Amino acid sequence: MNEAEWWRDSVVYQIYPKSFNDSNGDGIGDIRGIIEKLDYLKQLGVDVIWLNPIYQSPQVDNGYDISNYREIAPQFGTLTDFISLLDAVHQRHMRLILDLVVNHTSSEHPWFKAAKQSKNNQYHDYYIWKNGNKQQLPNNWGSSFGGSTWEYVDQVGQYYLHLFAKQQPDLNWENPKVRQDVYEIMRFWLNKGVDGFRMDVISLLSKKPTYPDGPIIQNKAYGSYYYGAANGPKIHDYLREMNQQVLSHYDIMTVGETPHTSVIEAEKYTDERRNELNMVFHFDHMHLDYDENGKFSTKRFKLSELKQVFNKWQLGMAKHHGWNSLYWSNHDQARPLTRFGVDDTKFRIKSAKMLATVLHFQQGTPFIYQGEELGMTNAKFTSIDDYQDIETHNIYQDFINHKHLSKEYTMKTIYLKSRDNARTPMQWTNGHNAGFTIGKPWLSVNPNYTRINVEQALNDKKSIFYYYQRLIKLRHSLPIMTTGDFELLDPDNEQVFSYLRRNQEQILLIAGNFSGKSAQVIFPTAVQNRSCKQIISNDNHIIKNDNSVVLPAYGAVVYSFNVN
Ligand code: GLC
Ligand code: CA
Repeated sequence: MNEAEWWRDSVVYQIYPKSFNDSNGDGIGDIRGIIEKLDYLKQLGVDVIWLNPIYQSPQVDNGYDISNYREIAPQFGTLTDFISLLDAVHQRHMRLILDLVVNHTSSEHPWFKAAKQSKNNQYHDYYIWKNGNKQQLPNNWGSSFGGSTWEYVDQVGQYYLHLFAKQQPDLNWENPKVRQDVYEIMRFWLNKGVDGFRMDVISLLSKKPTYPDGPIIQNKAYGSYYYGAANGPKIHDYLREMNQQVLSHYDIMTVGETPHTSVIEAEKYTDERRNELNMVFHFDHMHLDYDENGKFSTKRFKLSELKQVFNKWQLGMAKHHGWNSLYWSNHDQARPLTRFGVDDTKFRIKSAKMLATVLHFQQGTPFIYQGEELGMTNAKFTSIDDYQDIETHNIYQDFINHKHLSKEYTMKTIYLKSRDNARTPMQWTNGHNAGFTIGKPWLSVNPNYTRINVEQALNDKKSIFYYYQRLIKLRHSLPIMTTGDFELLDPDNEQVFSYLRRNQEQILLIAGNFSGKSAQVIFPTAVQNRSCKQIISNDNHIIKNDNSVVLPAYGAVVYSFNVN
């Protein structure tokens, strides 16, 4: 491992620009709003900021449908604002990475507008077309947002492929001109000084040339295309080409979003000897509470399965020269406190710190999603009309009209899983609209902003915010957090998540209680009878005995042992 690479001991903060901070009162977060809050992020101590898409877009999927890759969406600001942001980030010795969305464009992108004119148009082959007639779909693939992945265009008598909404046609990566144009877009931003990319659904670029029918999984809720699109035959060729022609010429970091990617496949993406990506986002821990209808379920995860997932990724990446990303949430996921912890009892703060502890001490690059450092929770809106997200609305229709599930059950799954849970405005103060906007916010503020907000957190030395600040400082000062080996303890224990990090000189023992009852953790032989020092803990009532510790409800602790 090249330990000098800066992204290995960096902590990334994800900003969802639309919901972060509105500087001009139109109810939509913007770039100037981000600039206003950079000192807050500096105080938290993060190294890198990742912005969700800010490019020109009709906003069918909140910016993941791009109509111009070289312009900023007017509601977010201008290119000049962006350059000011980049400068302001760099001045504060932080870095900025952008979202690269190149599996698909918007249907309003000039390439697609030209492509659908005629089969002879020079851009036709920028997209994926199949001959057919209106009665016969090319295959059974179901789109992520409901319905078929194929849309018929009368003008050319063909279907085009869209793995996501029909306003998000998939680019044809087989076409070398597409690849060269994408590389040019990347250089455009890198030459402005951007420090890397988060690459949207990058595992889906290469489709199986036969476009085979997919198995019907999760009641065909969505994503039957994964079978023929995830980790397709040429994906690693494309990424190596991209690396050779673009990435390797800059000092940057890359993280690929890789749905449906196993450890074995992720090793290929991230093995430093293969020159593809630095790290990927996998979804194995996000799938633990899926049921037969997929993500929108009321199922609760099982701790032993969660540990198994982390263990597999920790060991797999280390063994194969890969690198992990570590995350509990992002703009597509429910709030982790509601999902993996306790969101609204006297244990909220403790359980948020416990979740942070067990994640941040693992090997990899941690990602903090905006508001996680405050312990923001899911929002429980009473009406479907209060939700904005395309995925949520499609699921609502599908569950009620096609699956004939009750409205009550459907809303319950939406409270638990809607992407809007993560997208409610950032809670800055207990004032009007949580200090996010002086106008009407594009998505309602979570009513709990009166208790949960930045102002409150900064005034309370025991807040979740300061705990995250300490975790980040520890990552910068304790090399073992970056380089130490990982060893899971007590895999079948359904109450406590505990593991070791070790190197030649030192062993860390990390333990977090996921339950509302106290739990005893017996030290493994490797650290028994050795003197130890507490590194961090979320609770003053931890009882340390000679070779064990008793963790109160949702307690977490990290001990360091010297081993020579
Ligand atoms: C990714 C994004 C998600 C988006 C989808 C299509 O999963 O994170 O927000 O809807 O790709 O671009
Ligand atoms: Ca605004």
